Amino acid sequence: MSTDLLEAPAAIAPSADLLTLIVAEIRPETHDVKTFVFHPEGGVPPYRAGQSMTLKLAIGGETLFRTFSLASAPDASGTIAMTIKAHATGQATRWLHDELAVGARLEARSPKGRFTIEGRTTEKLALVSAGSGASPLMAMLRHLAATAPDTDIYWLHAARTPRDILFARELAALQARMPHLKVAMVVSRPEPGWFGFSGRLGRRMVSVALPDYGRREVFCCGPTGFMDEARLIHAAEGGARDLFHIEHFGAVTPVAPPPVPVDAPAEGYAVTLGDKSFTAQPGETLLQAATRQTIVIPCGCASGMCGTCRVSLVSGAVEMQHDGGISPEEEAQGYILACSSRPRSDVTIAL
Ligand SMILES: Cc1cc2nc3c(=O)[nH]c(=O)nc-3n(C[C@H](O)[C@H](O)[C@H](O)COP(=O)(O)OP(=O)(O)OC[C@H]3O[C@@H](n4cnc5c(N)ncnc54)[C@H](O)[C@@H]3O)c2cc1C
Ligand code: FES
Repeated sequence: MSTDLLEAPAAIAPSADLLTLIVAEIRPETHDVKTFVFHPEGGVPPYRAGQSMTLKLAIGGETLFRTFSLASAPDASGTIAMTIKAHATGQATRWLHDELAVGARLEARSPKGRFTIEGRTTEKLALVSAGSGASPLMAMLRHLAATAPDTDIYWLHAARTPRDILFARELAALQARMPHLKVAMVVSRPEPGWFGFSGRLGRRMVSVALPDYGRREVFCCGPTGFMDEARLIHAAEGGARDLFHIEHFGAVTPVAPPPVPVDAPAEGYAVTLGDKSFTAQPGETLLQAATRQTIVIPCGCASGMCGTCRVSLVSGAVEMQHDGGISPEEEAQGYILACSSRPRSDVTIAL
């Protein structure tokens, strides 16, 4: 976590970091998951396996920002890929699945995020996922297959039914090339002919599937309840907390009440966003204040990691405490993360 006191710059730099992605291929993975392969115009931006990109989508007259992990390995030449689940009532994912076609052009922000295997400290890894959470972990596995195929890796994936399991065929092919890759699947709704694990992720199941789980460095992505369970089991098996890394796909748990700055006025600060005004109570983040007053600021993780909630600070000052979702260059250009910034004066922000 890093904390900065930021004031609006004298002049706002134009949003220079939008990349153009051209849809090269759309591949169905399961009945509700597709992989979208893109050619980034001007070449693939540098990224690390596990990082994500925020798409800027024009849908039904609205501009939506949604963040998706890169499922491709940085080593893949010329293209990047995102593996995306269509949510039944999802604004962006339904449009991506139903409307986006090969050849279409999209805008995206450059890759970011700290959920990467670059800083791993142990040799033995466990890549633990549920649902579309397999996406950033597949990027890691593909990267390791290309650069360190001897790595000792356990892939544990949870899906609703056998038909929802992601990347099964590719995993089998990778196992043929990676001598120390072990794969286990667990489904919550088994079907006739299923011989893998079934039920909810539990300690007994993990101790059978992954006997040295507590001694492995874990990268985990899935719904919050799943990740909590995976973390508890890791801790119960003796795993150190700093060897357990997670990626949140959505802010499904309420954000803890923030500390109140001692010098904040009791009535809070005025926030202006375009033609809307609202009040940030003492200690509230800009995102919390906007959400409370039904004003939409794009949001992904709500915890300073993904960069989806990036806005320009046009005037005023904020205190920002984030977790890697914004780069020093973006801060210098006057950007802040709404989920991680608390006003220290009246402020004006822009999407
Ligand atoms: C860092 C990061 C990486 C991500 N990577 C991926 C990825 O690789 N693949 C992928 O499919 N998604 C990924 N997501 C989630 C993605 O950004 C969207 O939130 C999600 O796809 C829903 O978008 P939507 O516009 O279709 O749904 P919305 O219109 O925003 O929401 C529609 C409904 O779906 C629910 N919903 C929204 N998001 C989720 C979610 N993540 N899980 C369950 N229910 C949800 C909402 O509560 C609502 O009821 C990632 C998110 C983050 C923050
Ligand atoms: S919503 Fe992810 S950094 Fe703010």
